Amino acid sequence: MRLEKILSKENLKLSSEIDKLRVPKHVAIIMDGNGRWATKKGLPRSFGHNKGVSVLKDIIKVAKNLGCKTLTVYAFSTENWTRPSKEVDFLINLFEKVINKEIEQIHKNSIKINFIGDLNPFPETLKLVIKNSEDLTKNNKDFILNICINYGGRQEIVRVAKKLAHKSFSGEIQPSEVNEELFESELLIRDSKDPELLIRTSGEKRISNFLLWQLAYSEIYITDVFWPDFNEIEFLKAIIDYQSRNRRFGGIESLSNDSFKDSYYS
Ligand code: IPE
Ligand code: IPE
Ligand code: MG
Repeated sequence: MRLEKILSKENLKLSSEIDKLRVPKHVAIIMDGNGRWATKKGLPRSFGHNKGVSVLKDIIKVAKNLGCKTLTVYAFSTENWTRPSKEVDFLINLFEKVINKEIEQIHKNSIKINFIGDLNPFPETLKLVIKNSEDLTKNNKDFILNICINYGGRQEIVRVAKKLAHKSFSGEIQPSEVNEELFESELLIRDSKDPELLIRTSGEKRISNFLLWQLAYSEIYITDVFWPDFNEIEFLKAIIDYQSRNRRFGGIESLSNDSFKDSYYS
């Protein structure tokens, strides 16, 4: 079904403002505000996490229909282990439950799923579910969904530095060969270019250790809306705002999408 057919009036209006040729290919999202959303309603924080999952499902659909190719979402940071163990356990169980429930539909929609982060501390059952879901969807071509769990930008950079140090020590590479390209080849997100757009919900104006390398030149969109209240309309607003930006990359004139690709990524 064409996107326009399923949009409500407001969606339709917003959708008509979007230049379909300049939709960001890769959008990253810090899905924040689940706990506050629930607390404000007098509910346990877990309700916010549950609602957050259904919002993510909607946003995957919207992003894919709009022509985005990759969505990278922050679901659990390396710092989130400091939360009460009850909440951490709830989230770990939720990940496993949701993957089991949704993986068939994800596969049917030709979405490739990747889990980005250090998976070692997670229970074996979750690791197995993750491996199976990645194996099942690895050849899917229509859309990439990167879910960052136990992810930290600094930890990722240190991991790459360690890998290159080992390669240098073993003689596989020379220290003088280390450059941005080589560094990037060891990063955890392999299939996609850097996000053109980062969305953070719940009004916080920080990166919280997300994709420190990859966000170097991303446009940042912050909304006060809590993640459980985020929806198609809010996503379209973010895209419209992104399309109004003047992306100069240190230069003087804004680059069109095509020349941007040529000059920045080649
Ligand atoms: C984001 O919502 C989800 C995770 C970090 C797992 P929060 O749980 O951070 O919600 P707030 O920010 O406390 O409201
Ligand atoms: C960032 O949100 C991590 C995720 C959304 C998974 P946090 O709620 O953990 O970030 P801070 O603590 O507000 O910086
Ligand atoms: Mg938070």
